[in-house]
Amino acid sequence: MLPAIDFTQTNAFKYLADHYINIAGTGLKELFAADNQRFDKFSLRFEDILLDYSKNRIDGQTVALLVQLAKECGVKEATEAMFAGKKINVTENREVLHTALRNRSNTPVLVEGKDVMPGVNAVLAHMKEFSEAVISGTWKGYTGKAITDIVNIGIGGSDLGPVMVTEALKAYKTHLTLHFVSNVDGTHIAETLKKVDPETTLFLIASKTFTTQETMANANSARDWFLANGASQADIAKHFAALSTNATAVENFGIDTKNMFEFWDWVGGRYSLCSAIGLSIALGIGFDNFEALLDGAHAMDLHFRDTPFEENIPVILALLGIWYNNFFEAESHAILPYDQYLHRFAAYFQQGDMESNGKYVDRNGNVVDYQTGPLIWGEPGTNGQHAFYQLIHQGTKLVPCDFIAPAQSHNPIGEHHTLLLSNFFAQTEALMNGKTYDEVVAELKAAGKSDAEIETLAPFKVFDGNRPTNSILVKKVTPRTLGALIAMYEHKIFVQGIVWNIYSFDQWGVELGKQLAGKILPELRTADEIESHDSSTNGLINQYKSWR
Ligand code: F6P
Repeated sequence: MLPAIDFTQTNAFKYLADHYINIAGTGLKELFAADNQRFDKFSLRFEDILLDYSKNRIDGQTVALLVQLAKECGVKEATEAMFAGKKINVTENREVLHTALRNRSNTPVLVEGKDVMPGVNAVLAHMKEFSEAVISGTWKGYTGKAITDIVNIGIGGSDLGPVMVTEALKAYKTHLTLHFVSNVDGTHIAETLKKVDPETTLFLIASKTFTTQETMANANSARDWFLANGASQADIAKHFAALSTNATAVENFGIDTKNMFEFWDWVGGRYSLCSAIGLSIALGIGFDNFEALLDGAHAMDLHFRDTPFEENIPVILALLGIWYNNFFEAESHAILPYDQYLHRFAAYFQQGDMESNGKYVDRNGNVVDYQTGPLIWGEPGTNGQHAFYQLIHQGTKLVPCDFIAPAQSHNPIGEHHTLLLSNFFAQTEALMNGKTYDEVVAELKAAGKSDAEIETLAPFKVFDGNRPTNSILVKKVTPRTLGALIAMYEHKIFVQGIVWNIYSFDQWGVELGKQLAGKILPELRTADEIESHDSSTNGLINQYKSWR
């Protein structure tokens, strides 16, 4: 189904290992000095997105060898297999077809011989009709009032995507107020319910499986609260909708199946925001904007599927990540949006990337002897600059970063956006160039410091630089551009998973904790002293019991 090649045994990997030795000692400053065409050579454009990857520790040969690596690892064949609906999620025996959810060209996509597009389009039509009725106020609550508040109850992929997108596109907001409840900590639902009125609130229960403990606990509490506040069982039909693949569980919960928005097993949770899981997005920004998001994602899907690797944005980003992860031994990757609206972007792709590529068993079932997925983290600039950038500039760890910024702000107040962007440009320049000892000495001299002071202070003020960054400059964060950015990162993750020879679309690693919590839960329901675990777990549980 998918090629299962150990990428460390390819010719390209061996050439890259030699090439790394040559280039690792060359500074970015030298690379720029040697080639004044560097920006043109190492930047790519797609619609309103410019990727400048010239501030990476690469030259033309690096890119050529990385592209060769992708070819030797069968990235092209794997991409075709994904788009064609092959069962590339082998350990769950499923297709991987989030691309079909936004297949705006509507070409048939076959799953076991059956075109999935009529089903996709039918759900989209249902989402359109429903979201427009709620937004326009023709959808009434049980006392005849229009809906004012939407509470999406879901976790992981059934939460992070809608949260990220509705925050990112707040400039396009409808009059509806959105709330997201994910944590099983009762505080989350309790604080949300304080803000809403049962007569005017619509709950979306978002769960692919409709069995997730956190979501079902929150959904049950929401339903109890609704019924305790004057509504009847029959009123649930006007105030609860389900976004799920599990019709039976939805019906058992008491939700009218007319209010069920279906999706399918071939949509991974962390790849589901273009499915029915996006209903809160459609309600929050309007269906037309939701469609524009899908259009942008589709356009990037086509770019990814059809563009030669050298000019293919997701492929280039993926290969650069592999370059740092497997040759420079970088352990993490930072996503740093210079846009307050994108403040959950890194958190969203933390799940997208780490749940996909945090795997130590390869596609042959063997334990790998190389590094796979990096730690993904980040916060918006400029906040991050005053928090963790110290380590990125002067720490002992190499942290490759993606800097993302829009040229146009949705809130062009005074000089704010120019100030923001001056920081965006300055950071990647500073990370690349650093500051030499001589520059520091000259600065200190100019500030009137004595020779003794200069000698003491200078070492601490030196920046070694040579720290790699990608700059992703977009014209404006519109629904279309955001859709394209989302698909860009999704496909980056896909390419990396293919090269690392792992299965990116399962998530067995989250199961053990769930299983053990299920075993511990009944123990917490009794007052008995617990002795069934190791001494640490017993000690903690027994202390909890004595304090609760
Ligand atoms: O536990 C991890 C996970 O399975 C994620 O992959 C998923 O996004 C999340 O839980 C929520 O799952 P569901 O949508 O089935 O409630």
